[in-house]
Amino acid sequence: MTTNTITLLPSVEAFLATPKQLLINGEWVDAKDGKTFATVNPSTEKVLVQVAQASAMDVDRAVVAARSAFESPSPWSKMSPRDRSHLLWRIGDLIDESAEEFAQLESLDNGKTLESARGDVGVAAELFRYFAGWATKMEGTTIPMSVPGRDFHAYTRREAIGVVAGIVPWNFPLTMAAFKIVPAITAGNTVILKPAEQTPLTALRLGQLLLDAGLPAGVVNVVTGFGDTGAALVEHHGVDKVAFTGSTEVGKKIAAAASGNLKKVSLELGGKAPNIIFADADLDAAIAGAALAGYFNEGQCCVNGSRLYVQRGVFDRVVEGVAAAAKAIKVGDGFAADSTMGPLVSQEQYEKVLGYIRGAVEAGATISAGSADAAGGNGYFVQPTLITSVTEDMAVQTDEIFGPVITAIPFDTEDEVVAAANNTVYGLAAGVWTKDIGTAHRVGARLRAGTVWLNTWHADDVTLPRGGYKQSGWGRELGSFGLEDYTELKTVIAELR
Ligand code: NAI
Ligand code: MG
Repeated sequence: MTTNTITLLPSVEAFLATPKQLLINGEWVDAKDGKTFATVNPSTEKVLVQVAQASAMDVDRAVVAARSAFESPSPWSKMSPRDRSHLLWRIGDLIDESAEEFAQLESLDNGKTLESARGDVGVAAELFRYFAGWATKMEGTTIPMSVPGRDFHAYTRREAIGVVAGIVPWNFPLTMAAFKIVPAITAGNTVILKPAEQTPLTALRLGQLLLDAGLPAGVVNVVTGFGDTGAALVEHHGVDKVAFTGSTEVGKKIAAAASGNLKKVSLELGGKAPNIIFADADLDAAIAGAALAGYFNEGQCCVNGSRLYVQRGVFDRVVEGVAAAAKAIKVGDGFAADSTMGPLVSQEQYEKVLGYIRGAVEAGATISAGSADAAGGNGYFVQPTLITSVTEDMAVQTDEIFGPVITAIPFDTEDEVVAAANNTVYGLAAGVWTKDIGTAHRVGARLRAGTVWLNTWHADDVTLPRGGYKQSGWGRELGSFGLEDYTELKTVIAELR
């Protein structure tokens, strides 16, 4: 399947030439018990490199390092907001300087196309620069008090929480790492990052870049490993906050395990976003938008529009259009210049996604594009798939599939489609296509989701808060709201005697 394969940068070859270690207290170290695991290129199923597998002992070392880097009078606790701001900006620029190296590593480790990986690297760099501006703007307020005969000056301060564990998934490995690290260190916290076992490489490369940029030792630690490494972090009483992105199932486990020391928890979990096309929409834009909504990032994106609802009069035309868009996608090695979609991240995801497609066929649904058949050969490739004749009770309609699978269902009235759209345990994203401004904003307000797109999908900026209603999560990330999630609010009361 590989054509026009792009040559690896010498820096990428060098990175992959040696086993990867844990970053603890500014040093690269092996796991205490010496364990390692392999990370694999999902386009070829070949091992890229061995990576240290952190146990609870290593997690404990990382927590000790993060704690001492945080506690006053550490260099980090004494760094001025302006210096933090300049450092964050410098990191953003350094990422840009190594952008191609990050993009190649991301494409190799995750499978996504090199072009798509380049976009992700740009977002990560911009995230550092956006938050660089906030470091000097963590302001408090002064608040009047009314106590007869006495004078007071009362004010609030925004302070860091302490040691933050960031646990991230494999769909956007570098940007997810940045989503957790950047607001945390902007606010003066220290971090232990646990990358996904499927995609540890760019987080490790970022760890090196942070050291090169001059971030003090222990401020960001990277512990690679599986779910048990994450669980050890969540259970550790030296951790003050857990910021997690991943499945709703693991999110629930984290919420329960975090109760030991009542650490703060923020959760960005699954989704099953409804995408609603009314008959009066700009159909060309809506069809292209529906394909992007469903197939972006191989369908492995929590805000993907996987449930398509189309008003009956235009249903056939939209299905035909989305099926044609699906067939026009060129699935292949993420590193091949002509691929517009890479493989899924792992064998596990590949089998899960094909299982859902097969299950839908067995339940009586129709495949309008794509296939339930295994591609054959190496690599976890799944064709973008559109499924019709779907009913609301089918697993393909109720479950987060996390693959390039769209289901399409016709509707007649606004009330009917709003009820169907909201009939899910998730509430991460939703979208509406119509030329009627009243319909757009009214339906947008009725949809129970943290992000609503009107006549667009995946339009995004690091300035915008995001997060989930219902079982899609707790809290909001990015923007000024996202920064608050990494702070404690202190009230100070002084008597003026
Ligand atoms: P996952 O939720 O198991 O993994 C996410 C991260 O959590 C990884 O770093 C993993 O090592 C860690 N983890 C696993 N168990 C843990 C535990 N008990 N305590 C602490 N950390 C733990 O997701 P997985 O297994 O990779 O994918 C399964 C399904 O989850 C996907 O098919 C998809 O439906 C959903 N998912 C959703 C994502 C989203 O952004 N909403 C991202 C990734 C997966
Ligand atoms: Mg898992």
